[in-house]
Parts: sequence; structure tokens; C-alpha cells
Amino acid sequence: MIIAPSILASDWGHIDRDIRKVVEAGADWIHIDVMDGRFVPAITFGGDMVKAVRRAYSGTLDVHLMIEEPEKHIATFVDAGADIITVHLETCPHIHRSIQQIKESGIKAGVAINPGTAVEGLEPLAATADLFLVMTVNPGWGGQKFIETSVKRLETAKGIIEKSGRSIHLEVDGGIKQDTAKLCRDAGADAFVAGSYIFGSDDWKTAIDRLRS
Ligand code: DX5
Ligand code: ZN
Repeated sequence: MIIAPSILASDWGHIDRDIRKVVEAGADWIHIDVMDGRFVPAITFGGDMVKAVRRAYSGTLDVHLMIEEPEKHIATFVDAGADIITVHLETCPHIHRSIQQIKESGIKAGVAINPGTAVEGLEPLAATADLFLVMTVNPGWGGQKFIETSVKRLETAKGIIEKSGRSIHLEVDGGIKQDTAKLCRDAGADAFVAGSYIFGSDDWKTAIDRLRS
């Protein structure tokens, strides 16, 4: 199981400290939520923030772009040090090209889908994508409630991955806690983004251990 704490829920005034602490607590990746105030209502981090996180952390930086026209910004996030860039299917009319653009930069490419988007849309992308992110809330904020119908969608996505014969991560993001992580794992997920569950707890190590249990 890959645990990817989302720094959206960390203390932005002490980001280096929080990253160090969460890595010591057992984090596998660090997840960065980039929001543009258009695809989703909030505005969060840009490339310079990713650079700052890169300086503080040598592990896998999992960058989730919740932005319109992401292809215009891929180079910025690659230069900033992302290891994985995930774009939303809903924002990419030429999704194959966007995946290609990310992969040609030498890093991994992910495709995310909102809870209202048909999972079957991932099928043509299984030949090239490295990660599928099935959103378990509507993107935009941390601390939302897990959408139960996500479980069935994960099973479908897992089937698409198995059929492809390729090694593709199946990631979940939104409302992930001990119980929902287990539901998702049983449905085939292997990468778990969690913000408020980890950073909002008193003991981050215990929270991460619980996600794995
Ligand atoms: C939601 C973001 C998530 C968010 C998850 O739009 O993509 O990564 O940080 O937050 P929690 O774990 O609090 O639901
Ligand atoms: Zn995210």
C-alpha cells in the first residue's frame, strides 16, 4: 500500500517540518493538490511551491493537477521536480497527447476522473497511463465525505488495469480514513491519498498505520 499524505491539510507555514514529520511517520509519497480557481473553486499551489517541497523532500512527489488546460503547465511542474503528474480527464480533450507530453518529460503520467465521469473512459488510456486516480469525492476541498459508489467504480477500474496486463497504480483521493481505505483496498486500490485523516490526527504514525490495517 502506498500512503500519499496530501499537504493541502498540513500547516503551510511549517511545510518543511510537516513533510519531515509525515515521512518519519511512514508516508510513501507526498501528494500536492494544485487548484486553479476554475476547474475547482479554490486556488492552492503553483510550480514554485512544488519546487519548495522538492527541496524539502527527496521521495516521490505526486502532483495532482485540478486545473483547466493542464498541458500549458506540465513543463512548469516537471521542472519543479514532480515525479508523477496526474491530469483530469475532464480537462483534457486530447488526453493521449497530454499523457505523452508528461511521459516524454521522463516522469510518470496519471489520469484522474471525477465521481460523475464514466470509468470506462479510462480503458483507451490503459496502454499508456502509469496511474489511474478514481476520485472518491468531488475535487476542490479537503475534509469531504467519501462517496460510497466509488467502490464499484474502483472494481471496474481494476478490471480495466488487469485486462491491459500493464502495471498501473490505482489511486484513491478524498475522504480516505481507516474504514474507507479498507473498502478501497478490497476493491483493488494500491495508492491512498489522505489529508485531514493524517494531518488532523494527534499521532500521524498511528493514523498511517491504521490506513494500512
Ligand atoms: C480533493 C483533493 C484531495 C484532498 C483530500 O480535492 O484532491 O487530495 O486533499 O483531502 P481529505 O483526505 O481531507 O479528504
Ligand atoms: Zn488530490
